[in-house]
Amino acid sequence: MQPLNVLIVGASGGIGSALSQHILTHTNANVFATYRSAQLRVQHARLRWYALDVTAENDYGSLTMSLNVEVDHLDWVINCVGALSINEQTPEKNIKAVTSNNLMTSIQVNTMPTLLLAKHVLPFLRRSDAPRFATISARVGSIDDNELGGWYSYRCSKAALNMALKNISIEWGRLMKRSCTIALHPGTTDTELSLPFQANVPEKQLFAPDKTAGLLFHILENLRPEDNGRFIAYDGSDIGW
Ligand SMILES: NC(=O)c1ccc[n+]([C@@H]2O[C@H](COP(=O)([O-])OP(=O)(O)OC[C@H]3O[C@@H](n4cnc5c(N)ncnc54)[C@H](OP(=O)(O)O)[C@@H]3O)[C@@H](O)[C@H]2O)c1
Repeated sequence: MQPLNVLIVGASGGIGSALSQHILTHTNANVFATYRSAQLRVQHARLRWYALDVTAENDYGSLTMSLNVEVDHLDWVINCVGALSINEQTPEKNIKAVTSNNLMTSIQVNTMPTLLLAKHVLPFLRRSDAPRFATISARVGSIDDNELGGWYSYRCSKAALNMALKNISIEWGRLMKRSCTIALHPGTTDTELSLPFQANVPEKQLFAPDKTAGLLFHILENLRPEDNGRFIAYDGSDIGW
């Protein structure tokens, strides 16, 4: 079988780097990985790194120009970028803490990149036999599931992300019959993002990044076209939008 071509956006983060490592170890895929500023944690003969600030629209064009030199198609595109604390402020406990600056930054980092990425990678995915497009969302972005409130900017930006993914799944489901576009919930994972919020998480519910990577990979590799448009948790269960 031809090796898969996989693009992982935010491969310098806790989950993104573990997923890149997992794919390189367990498959013969070529991995195209993006970072913004962090040190590059993974190195491998089948891995290429590209700089991408997901908030800078021009960067997407530069990325696809560089990818064009390497590949004619991508099979999987996985966006692992996200932010919970914004401008070194922990998420809002109540409405008084909401600021336009933090709300807009959340949307720029958690929502907008998936839309711009979809726009720019479409020509690559169209040339795949079974294209898969996934973004790591979060259960707290589910409107159905919201019983606690708080975390306004993060919840709103992830809910908007979920709508973006649902929309893309509908458009691409018509355009590419074997495509699959999904939102993923990774479970609480021990990364920089979750570090300030781990105190009350039971030990068993805090996953090491490589455990999360294995669970998400299992979902990604078993996707079928009928899974298009699902919001899927790490254990394979559906989350209401
Ligand atoms: N960890 C959890 O418990 C948990 C739970 C639910 C959902 N999630 C979601 O899982 C995803 C991955 O989170 P994580 O836990 O792996 O967090 P993380 O370790 O903090 O990684 C976040 C990643 O986002 C990147 N990033 C942030 N702003 C960026 C920008 N403007 N341009 C490019 N890259 C940018 C970071 O790049 P730099 O390092 O270069 O800044 C880093 O690669 C996020 O979407 C998060 O919301 C995580």
